[in-house]
Amino acid sequence: MRTLLTRDPDEAAAVLRRGGLCVLPTETVYGLAALAYDADAVRRVFEAKGRPSDNPLIVHLGEAAEADEVAHVTALGGDLLRAFAPGPLTVVLPARPGLPPAVTAGLGTVAVRVPLAPLARAVLRSTGPLVAPSANRSGRPSPTTWAAAAEDLDGRVDAILQGPPTTVGLESTVVDATGDVPLVLRPGAVTLDALEAQFPASRAVAAEAEQTRRSPGTRHRHYAPRAQVHLVAPGDASPSGDAAWIGLSPPPSGYALATVCPDVEAYARQLFDAFRRADAAQLSRIDAEAVPEVGLGVAVMDRLRRAAAG
Ligand code: TXA
Ligand code: MG
Repeated sequence: MRTLLTRDPDEAAAVLRRGGLCVLPTETVYGLAALAYDADAVRRVFEAKGRPSDNPLIVHLGEAAEADEVAHVTALGGDLLRAFAPGPLTVVLPARPGLPPAVTAGLGTVAVRVPLAPLARAVLRSTGPLVAPSANRSGRPSPTTWAAAAEDLDGRVDAILQGPPTTVGLESTVVDATGDVPLVLRPGAVTLDALEAQFPASRAVAAEAEQTRRSPGTRHRHYAPRAQVHLVAPGDASPSGDAAWIGLSPPPSGYALATVCPDVEAYARQLFDAFRRADAAQLSRIDAEAVPEVGLGVAVMDRLRRAAAG
């Protein structure tokens, strides 16, 4: 398949409206979009990514008000959407009938998100609800640039909408809103602190078993570059010409590549790109410096642990 590269959101929307697959920029990571109600297009999303069929997809909406069409919006879900949409938050709600079963993996719930990125919103206004998993081959780091998405999906999708690098760099915070209190299934840029400020009883799923049960995607190997990721204590560097460094501290000389981030926001933004650059340079190891698990540091450490486990 020949993949169309375009900078025109109308052209991207036209591809999607006729049942095509199109990579879209959001503020978190690039997504691989298809019409949410087109079962055949949804099936091809799983195929293009090599994604396990038991991992449900997020339905993206142009406006929070559209959530009513795909989900039963709980009181808590409505409050969360009013507080954080549009933005890097995904809310899990009881699903309404009508979506292809593959979207929800038969869970009875559906994840919805209203992206903030202008290009994504422009496309969504013209297409209606879109599924959009991260635009990587399953198991690879999420793409934060259109070129990274092309690296994984060129020839497997109909089009790529070429936008700017994403501003957040990590996937959205996934929050279960089927109950009375927000339950964080996947940490992201909407931090537990930010949730607690409005919903004091918010909590993160603690046990891994519970996380796997509620959010099947977290079971699968994730975010892993080909190089071996080592999570190292602050300042604990072992420079090598066969290794890359990423962290808040400048490393001693001797690394083949070094990404030094001025703050944890920059760490989040640059992490997946640093992984991909280490792979492009065929390095065998990535030393990733641990950060304090507060605020956005929780999400950074979550992705680093998963990558190190892969
Ligand atoms: O930032 C993001 O969320 C990006 C951009 C493109 O919007 N999308 C993304 O999609 O990261 P994906 O498919 O890579 O991750 C979706 C996550 C998975 O962990 C999945 O298991 C979880 O959301 N999820 C989807 N539907 C769910 C549901 N009904 N219940 C629980 N978890 C769900
Ligand atoms: Mg993903």
